[in-house]
Amino acid sequence: MSYETKSREKLAEYMKKDSPVILAIESSCDETAAAVIRGGREVLSNAVFTQIPIHKRYGGVVPEIASRSHVEKISGVVKEALETAGKTLCDIDAIAVTCGPGLVGALLVGVNYAKGLALAQSLPIIGVDHIAGHIAANYISHPTLEPPFMCIVASGGHSHIVKVSDYDKFEVVGKTRDDAAGEAFDKVARALGLAYPGGPLLEALAKEGNDTSYSFKSALNEDSSSEFSFSGIKTAVVNVMHNAQQKGEEVNRADVAASFQRSVINTLVRKSIHATKESRMTKLALAGGVSANTALREALREASEKEGIEFFCPEMKYCTDNAAMIGCAGHYALMKGNVSNLDLNADPSLGF
Ligand code: KG4
Ligand code: ZN
Repeated sequence: MSYETKSREKLAEYMKKDSPVILAIESSCDETAAAVIRGGREVLSNAVFTQIPIHKRYGGVVPEIASRSHVEKISGVVKEALETAGKTLCDIDAIAVTCGPGLVGALLVGVNYAKGLALAQSLPIIGVDHIAGHIAANYISHPTLEPPFMCIVASGGHSHIVKVSDYDKFEVVGKTRDDAAGEAFDKVARALGLAYPGGPLLEALAKEGNDTSYSFKSALNEDSSSEFSFSGIKTAVVNVMHNAQQKGEEVNRADVAASFQRSVINTLVRKSIHATKESRMTKLALAGGVSANTALREALREASEKEGIEFFCPEMKYCTDNAAMIGCAGHYALMKGNVSNLDLNADPSLGF
């Protein structure tokens, strides 16, 4: 029997099972991750090897080094995920893998490893969009959450307001015209002399500062559209730092960090609440690496409460890149009968 026939049979079994078990792999950027998920939302294991210490000395992710590190770590990370879950490959019903967007060399490591496993075990394989994965992180943390809802996705590569009409139906209703929120956090952090990745360090510094010391604004962020921009705010911060340096003046870095963070948060809150109300949604979720920002979580929670909108965000461990979220998104795709073939390829610019 060919792989196609056997995997189709196993997909039919997967869709009938009460609690099918999926092995998920994520390698789109600088985390090598694998997870075992039962019934879509129950996380049996979630192994993550982060390359942050490796890339730190270069001030950002070096794609070639990321790919090599994924190659070195992927077998061990998958083994760890299976062992922690108390499973072997024979217990696995399907494989899910991130196929884009991301760094092509990094994605290819996960995609090819997953295809190898799928072929060896005759298992169905599903390629998962990384952003759909981030959104699905909310299903894991909130077992009763179901579409439809609005979701603000803020990561190192994306700042999208996405209408989630069903598990596999996404519509981008607004996005940044330039830098992603996480990218702006990282660039401003660098201007403030903080290490990579700057987001969490900038958040910590901002806690010590006055967020009204500076006004970093962008006209686009003040209007009622669902489009926004972070590049201008970032440049304004860099200019403050340069001007002070040229004049030999001391800048209170904590004040700059707090004011920048407030500006980004105000924009994300205003735009996502507006989009949620506009489309008459009653639920708003937050997703992507920047969702680990406590000030953003609290601001969105407060604004949602005021508007009678139910607010959701993932637990901290599912905010930044992980494979549990990929397994969850993969599960719902398979339950709809969607499946990939062995010609699945990495698509660095995949998008909804
Ligand atoms: O989703 P993610 O792990 O990777 C991508 O898909 O891009 O997001 C990483 C981004 C980085 O830009 C990082 O600085 C940002 O999320 N980030 C944060 C925080 N934690 C991570 N930004 C602001 N505050 C945080 N606490
Ligand atoms: Zn991500």
